[in-house]
Amino acid sequence: MSGCLSHGCLRTVIRNCARANPAAASTLRRSPEIACADNLAFMRTLPDAHCDLIYADPPFDQPRKRGSSDWNKAGGKPRSFVDIEPFLEFMRPRLEETRRILSSRGSLYLHLDWRTAHYVKVMLDEVFGRAAFLNEIIWSYRGGSRLGRWFARKHDTILVYAKSKGSHTFNQIRGGSYRTRDMLFDDAGRPYKSTRRGRIYFNPDGPALTDVWDLPILSTVSRERTGYRCQKPEALLERMIRAASNEGDLVADFFCGSGTTLAVAKRLNRRILGCDINPEAIAVTQERLFPACDSSNRENLRRMNTR
Ligand SMILES: C[S@@+](CC[C@H](N)C(=O)[O-])C[C@H]1O[C@@H](n2cnc3c(N)ncnc32)[C@H](O)[C@@H]1O
Repeated sequence: MSGCLSHGCLRTVIRNCARANPAAASTLRRSPEIACADNLAFMRTLPDAHCDLIYADPPFDQPRKRGSSDWNKAGGKPRSFVDIEPFLEFMRPRLEETRRILSSRGSLYLHLDWRTAHYVKVMLDEVFGRAAFLNEIIWSYRGGSRLGRWFARKHDTILVYAKSKGSHTFNQIRGGSYRTRDMLFDDAGRPYKSTRRGRIYFNPDGPALTDVWDLPILSTVSRERTGYRCQKPEALLERMIRAASNEGDLVADFFCGSGTTLAVAKRLNRRILGCDINPEAIAVTQERLFPACDSSNRENLRRMNTR
C-alpha cells in the first residue's frame, strides 16, 4: 500500500491522472507519493480535506536553466513568470485547489519574495478569507549581492493561512538564546531573572520562535545540495513541518523541485505527497527519498516522462 493513499483512493487518483497525463500516471504507479504532472491537474484528482500541511514554492522570474522552469508540456514550451499578471492567473486556481484539499487541521505555507508577496497576499485573503491568515514569516539570510541604490534584498516571505483557524495544528517551536540581561541559573541549571517580587523563570528550551527566521541559504559546498537550482535548505522546511504537523500527518508539496519538503517530512515520520511538472525534479526527488533505488531509475524516469 502507498505511504499516503489508500488502495481505493490511489486507484482513483491514478485513473483520473491517466486521463489527463499518461506519463504522470505511470510515475504515480511506480512511486505513488511523487507524481510528474501539472500540479493543478494533479490536485484536482485528490479528494477534499486530504492533506494536513501544504508547502508551496512556486517559480517566479527564474532563468530557464536546470530545475527552474515551468514546464508547459501542453503548450510544448516552458513558461517563466516575469510579469505579475500571468503569475497571479496561474496561482489563483492552484490556491483554490489547495484550500479544498487541506484538512480542517491543515495550513498552507506559501514561499514568495518581494516581487510577488504583496499581490499574492491579497489573493490569499480572497481565497482563504482574511480571518484565516496566521503569519507572514520573514526568512532572512546573508550572502554576497551586487550593491545598488537600495538596501541589499536578503529575505523571502512565507505566507501562512489555515484552512480553519483555531482548529489548525500548531506546535510551538523553541530555540536559540534569550536576549535578557542579568540572566541567572538555579542549582538545576534553569534560567531565571531575579526581580523584587521573586524569581521569574524562563523556558529552558529557549524563547518561542518569532516570525523572523535567520537561517543560512544552502552553501555551494553543502552536503544537502542536489544540484537542483532552486533547492531550499532542510532547516527551513523542518521548522514549518514541526510547527504545523504531527507524526503520521500528510505533508504535501506540489512544486516539490528537488524534494526538500518530502525528504524532511519523511525523516520526521510524516506521510508525504509530492508533484512537479519537471521530470528532472522528479528524478532528483526519487533519488533523494529512495537513495537505494537502482541508478538507472533516474534515466528511465527521464525517458518515460519526456516522451
Ligand atoms: C522554486 S522551485 C521549488 C524548489 C523546491 N522548494 C526545492 O527545495 O527544491 C519551483 C518548482 O515548481 C515546478 N513547477 C512549475 N510549474 C509547475 C506546475 N504547473 N506543476 C508542477 N510543478 C511546477 C518547477 O519545475 C520547479 O521545480
